[in-house]
Amino acid sequence: MSNRREATLRRLGIVPTVTELVRAALDEAVGWAEAVHGAQGATPPAVVVLDAGCGRSSALARHRARIGRFVGVDIHAPAPGALPYLDEFATVDLCASAGAFPPATFDVVLSSFTVEHFADPQAAFVNLARWLRPGGWLVLTTVNRRHPFVAAYLALPAAARHRMQPVVKASAADAHPLVGACNDPAALRDALRAAGLEDVRVATVGHLARAWGRRLPTFALGLAGDLLARGVPSHRSTLVVTARAPDPAA
Ligand SMILES: C[S@@+](CC[C@H](N)C(=O)[O-])C[C@H]1O[C@@H](n2cnc3c(N)ncnc32)[C@H](O)[C@@H]1O
Repeated sequence: MSNRREATLRRLGIVPTVTELVRAALDEAVGWAEAVHGAQGATPPAVVVLDAGCGRSSALARHRARIGRFVGVDIHAPAPGALPYLDEFATVDLCASAGAFPPATFDVVLSSFTVEHFADPQAAFVNLARWLRPGGWLVLTTVNRRHPFVAAYLALPAAARHRMQPVVKASAADAHPLVGACNDPAALRDALRAAGLEDVRVATVGHLARAWGRRLPTFALGLAGDLLARGVPSHRSTLVVTARAPDPAA
């Protein structure tokens, strides 16, 4: 999206951005993990992270220098060399592969714009919770069905959505099947708690204009959607969520 469009959004109060919120959450989560490893006498970088549903880009990549082991998983394997910041990639269905990692493997798990695609979000959350070490952080982003545009988009027949996706997405490779089974603030909070996670915090942000902002007509539509929900936090288009694995020793 152009700088001019970004400036317009800021002037109209469509802030903070998803990127800013995720960045702040990951800074805190990675800082926590560094302190834990430091207290245990580990040589930095010792932080172990997972990008769950890593696709073709990761907000964790900017923390690469602070990460000792960086794992990515997805149901689709990336092109060779496409994710140079990863130490390991594994093809994993997060809704099914409970044994993909031993319990308590990761300090921080990021799962960015994945939940809306999960056939069984509850199973995925149980897996992610199990793979987090005690006190470890989960950072999630996903769409919010309480926004009327998101609800309408999710309600479209698959064929109609398939025709629209190339218009609003950067490329066909970004168009994934949508389910939206756990996509409102209350459902997400309840599902994460039911998976055994604690300290669940759900922030909502307007993200339609930024997500659709490559072309002027879809930017304008997204902007109308973001303005519609600007004053109604529970209806903003996008959820940025943090949760922690319980730590009995804390
Ligand atoms: C919208 S893309 C987001 C990619 C990346 N996280 C990002 O933020 O750019 C959704 C990703 O989730 C992956 N995905 C969907 N369902 C999945 C599942 N059950 N297990 C693992 N990955 C899944 C898709 O293959 C896709 O790469």
